[in-house]
Amino acid sequence: MSYPPGFLWGTATAAHQIEGNNVNSDFWLAESVTPTLFREPSGDACDSYHRYGDDIALAAELGFNAHRFGIEWARIEPEPGRFSNAELDHYARVLETCHAHGLAPMVTLSHWTVPRWFAARGGFEADDSPELFGRFAAKVAERFGPLMAAATTFNECNIGRLARILFRQDSPRAAAAVEAMLAACARASGSDRFASVLFADIARSEANQVAAHRLAVAALKAGPGDYPVGLTIAMQAVEGVGEGHRAAEFEEALYGPWLDAAAPCDFVGVQTYTRLRVGADGVLPPPEGAERTAAGYEFYPRALGATIRFAAERMGKPVYVTENGIATDDDSRRVAYIDEALAEVRRALADGVDVRGYFHWSLLDNFEWTFGYAQRFGLIEVDRETFARSPKPSARHLGAIARAAR
Ligand code: FCB
Repeated sequence: MSYPPGFLWGTATAAHQIEGNNVNSDFWLAESVTPTLFREPSGDACDSYHRYGDDIALAAELGFNAHRFGIEWARIEPEPGRFSNAELDHYARVLETCHAHGLAPMVTLSHWTVPRWFAARGGFEADDSPELFGRFAAKVAERFGPLMAAATTFNECNIGRLARILFRQDSPRAAAAVEAMLAACARASGSDRFASVLFADIARSEANQVAAHRLAVAALKAGPGDYPVGLTIAMQAVEGVGEGHRAAEFEEALYGPWLDAAAPCDFVGVQTYTRLRVGADGVLPPPEGAERTAAGYEFYPRALGATIRFAAERMGKPVYVTENGIATDDDSRRVAYIDEALAEVRRALADGVDVRGYFHWSLLDNFEWTFGYAQRFGLIEVDRETFARSPKPSARHLGAIARAAR
């Protein structure tokens, strides 16, 4: 079974995790206040803001034909309503570099970070937040439309829901820790509020985020250019275990309104790392003896088959796998993970599911949010002092598959 013509093979990255010195973003502040939930600050990250040319050239040389990356709202609009032409030019160069190397660029408008000013006025809790995000999206559409091969609005739109399930973000203890960090951010901003996407109180922000997504889709579809527009969603294979299991309830808790929010989109971006086992009392730990990744979750690449099918059926759209990967210091496990995950993609294709691409998370070892640099998801190692890039065997492995499949 081969992959369909035009299948996109790439890696996925996020602006804040690789660019470095994203100083006007909410996370830059959150990483440095006391108390913070971040293990360490992002600092220079992988310095991809300057080294994007090397990264793109390396991805092309490895065998990929596409590249997923984020543009940083905090750079493009560092103060409300003040758009930076120099930063817009920067991202135009990144897009042009992708084309020069034969990589189809898939752009993420918002990968969790927002401008600091936006967070300090209440983030997506503010009533006019959808219009502000829509204005940014219109700027992006107008400037980059002809250069984008695909665009997505929010990365893992439902991340607040997943965090609530996995990290009990709404339990009194976790909520207090989040609140203390956000209060410190508010104080440092001279504001009485500070709302972030990853640590969102979704009861107050989700409806606005859905509205923001819809405005952004409309802005992107308005042109110029003609490229597919999508939404990426954090998905786990939800498996019910035993009598009276609550899988359906957890499925609803994980996705909420976002399955319907894909309606105006051309595709859905499936992002899957593992499965979620649910019994009668809620989430269960991985089965005894199961292999765990360095991020703690179960090594379970087969989850991807289930989530691709779920997305295709429930959202009724073509699917791109926009993230899939493993944190590990043993690269041979990454190779095994990739092989098993791709076998799932091929099975789904054989069953007639419309899968159009596979983007592995991630190109580089990078800033893994609150976990800092400790968790390594990259196909390529990055020296933290010199920023030198060294492809791991898994990079050559997936690159060779991508090259052979085309
Ligand atoms: C996903 C995020 C991505 C990265 C991976 C490991 O949930 O979208 O930025 O952190 O997990």
